[in-house]
Amino acid sequence: MGKVHVLDHPLIQHKLTYIRDKHTGTKEFRELVDEVAMLMAFEITRNLPLQEKATETPVMEATTQVLAGKKIGLIPILRAGLGMVDGMLRLIPAARVGHVGLYRDPETFKPHEYYIKLPSDIEERELIVIDPMLATGGSANDAIHSLKKRGAKQIRLMCLVAAPEGVEVIQNEHPDVDIFLAALDEKLNDHGYIIPGLGDAGDRLYGTK
Ligand code: PRP
Ligand code: URA
Repeated sequence: MGKVHVLDHPLIQHKLTYIRDKHTGTKEFRELVDEVAMLMAFEITRNLPLQEKATETPVMEATTQVLAGKKIGLIPILRAGLGMVDGMLRLIPAARVGHVGLYRDPETFKPHEYYIKLPSDIEERELIVIDPMLATGGSANDAIHSLKKRGAKQIRLMCLVAAPEGVEVIQNEHPDVDIFLAALDEKLNDHGYIIPGLGDAGDRLYGTK
């Protein structure tokens, strides 16, 4: 079963509090999501393998380290996942970015895919699926199935806030996928919203309603 990592770094938790706050306006919300994504990128990449590399410093030749192994692909789920991409790219600037467009039907909560565009070599990449919200889990589940159908082999899921219901869906459907969260909340309400949550992530990022 995939592991759930709740990233409890104090800076992440501090900023998440202001992201949750209903008084935080669009501009500040966007900036905070961007900053938390960058901090989460630092934690999520902690176990990437390194290999030795000889480097000539101005003083001598030294044995140094560089990243080894698979290259990274970031896969934001549109729309809200886009709000976390730039923060991630600041730490992983060479990552390729693929997009999966999904919206959740407000009545049934079922996701509908309307767009997908991926790097051509996803089977060789370590993919990080990005969405601020993991609620029923339907959207992330569909996105991951879609990626696997197209050859993806190594996938991690990164969300700001999750409900236990969504975590369970991903763990059952994709036991090979580790989940990285800033917070694991209490549950879903009758409208499929995470509580306490942060409201509608897409609307708060883009000022829509
Ligand atoms: C939100 C959110 C997730 C999804 C989570 O997107 O960004 O993609 O809901 O819910 P789930 O786990 O129950 O599927 P939404 O459908 O509101 O689309 P948007 O990002 O375009 O606003
Ligand atoms: N989508 C959101 O944006 N927020 C929730 O709480 C649940 C789904």
